[in-house]
Amino acid sequence: MKKIFLLFVIISVLALSLGMAATYIVGTSADFPPFEYVQNGKYVGFDMELINAIANVEGFKVQIRDMSFDSLIPALKAGVIDIAIAGMTITNERQKIVDFSDPYWYANQDVIVKKDSNFNVTVLCGNHTIGVQTGTTGDLWVSDNLVKAGYLNKNNVKRYQSFIYSLQALLNGSVDANVLDSPVAERFAEMKPVKIVATLVTGESYGIAVRKGNSELLAKINDGLKKVKSSGEMTKLIDKYFGK
Ligand code: ARG
Repeated sequence: MKKIFLLFVIISVLALSLGMAATYIVGTSADFPPFEYVQNGKYVGFDMELINAIANVEGFKVQIRDMSFDSLIPALKAGVIDIAIAGMTITNERQKIVDFSDPYWYANQDVIVKKDSNFNVTVLCGNHTIGVQTGTTGDLWVSDNLVKAGYLNKNNVKRYQSFIYSLQALLNGSVDANVLDSPVAERFAEMKPVKIVATLVTGESYGIAVRKGNSELLAKINDGLKKVKSSGEMTKLIDKYFGK
């Protein structure tokens, strides 16, 4: 009888500790291959596997929530999500509102146009139209360097909630160019009839964001990142998503 009782206690404690693995809600904007996109109804990509790998080594669970890129920081702030991973550039402005992990990727901005067009870098000025994803660093670059500098009329910047729409607008001729992160531009240039005509060297670093002051979770993420790198898992992910 005593033994059965002991067994019962052990099983309950085990079940409790297993069940107690925290689940964090992870926000993303799944329109950004190869970092995050939807394939066969699933969220896949480098960022998705990276956050899962970190969760595995740190002993927490994740649940992915897809939303528009510009909702991610407000959602973190409001506590709707706990983590944002979305090829998000660490910027001073964003650092005032959220905390970022150590950088895990580097990018510039690229200008893409339709493959069969004769546009070159001058597509950024004059009467041309540029598509961007709302609230991204591409959006900010266009506003700061083209609109404010007087090279482009502000009505010629078309903002889209999703990169998918921005790319569609380029393909169907509603805009002349898109400005977007270089790794994603490179992927689109392989998948779609578009080409890169210029690189804007912005020197951006991607980080994983958490609510400001959530240092416990941030420490887990940074520790997880280190472990995923040193175990070789990171290299495998890089090969899988960026290997030729
Ligand atoms: N790196 C850029 C930024 O932080 C673009 C990120 C867009 N990410 C996405 N999943 N759509 O603004």
